[in-house]
Amino acid sequence: MALSEQKTMKTADILSEFRASFFAMSRLASLPWTFVEDDLLSNESSEFISALLKQTCLHPLCRRFPPSVRFRRMFLSELIRREAADCDPLDELYDALAEVLGAEEETECYKSYFLPGGGAVSLLENVALISEGTTGLVTWEAALYLAEWALDHRQVFAGRSVLELGSGAGLTGITICRSCRPHSFVFSDCHSTVLQKLRENVRLNALSEQTSPAARVHELDWTTATEDQLAEIGADTVIAADVVYDPEVAVSLVKLLSKILSRPSTQVQPEILICSTVRNPETYGGFKQQLENAGIHHEVMTGAVSSVFPYNRLAAIELIKLYR
Ligand SMILES: C[S@@+](CC[C@H](N)C(=O)[O-])C[C@H]1O[C@@H](n2cnc3c(N)ncnc32)[C@H](O)[C@@H]1O
Repeated sequence: MALSEQKTMKTADILSEFRASFFAMSRLASLPWTFVEDDLLSNESSEFISALLKQTCLHPLCRRFPPSVRFRRMFLSELIRREAADCDPLDELYDALAEVLGAEEETECYKSYFLPGGGAVSLLENVALISEGTTGLVTWEAALYLAEWALDHRQVFAGRSVLELGSGAGLTGITICRSCRPHSFVFSDCHSTVLQKLRENVRLNALSEQTSPAARVHELDWTTATEDQLAEIGADTVIAADVVYDPEVAVSLVKLLSKILSRPSTQVQPEILICSTVRNPETYGGFKQQLENAGIHHEVMTGAVSSVFPYNRLAAIELIKLYR
């Protein structure tokens, strides 16, 4: 491959890395800024910055589903800081900054996660990680990991009736619906604001009971869910991401998982996958011990997953499959 072709390819990769990180509102320090600096130094032109703006603040997706005002302001300030030293100021960069400087800060924003086959999952999320007493208004890393695992193992979900526990903002489920051809998908949660946002996000991504797959949002509280409720949902695959973050929550979750796995042995047992960020090994170990005490065994799903979404890959994330 000629050197110029290699450079064009590298530029395209960097632009798509910037686009993915910008729309997912990744930590600014994790973006490949050194490439911008090197490019400005070697080309003495703002061509790359102009292309970068088209993939971020001036991308059509940013009009429809904009990341937070604060994030866009910080992103543009970083660009300006680098641009000013090396080349003529770019009008469109300052116009974009003027637009966000005049906008009001909000408590909600959009995040978009690009899918490998094209298109993106766009979600209305809260700016704060924890708000209104819940962790369910933002997308957590385990949800992104489980979605990546699903993209690598689409056959696990194809034709299946899937139930997701503690769906939160909905990233994992929407990715599965969009890419893995399940027969139907039930999103669930217990918190009223989370359920409201979840319904909005499902609709935003053009999913409904009438689509294929049929997608529904259920109120399902692990502490009160009944066998009848679970039978009515009738899932043959159950998934959950980042639901083991508190010892109390783990108790009710294990009770629910026991109910799900308590079908008569003549019936096919549902497949259950739980993906967790291990923040506190004691809490996670306690959850696994409770599973064993309830007669539920697990297998750790090892093996690398394809890197699709931007998130901290150093986080300790474990995916387990449960069985009786
Ligand atoms: C850390 S968030 C994870 C959200 C999403 N799965 C993700 O990983 O981005 C935990 C979710 O579990 C839900 N949750 C907690 N306790 C629950 C319960 N008893 N019944 C149902 N959902 C519950 C919360 O409302 C929240 O949406």
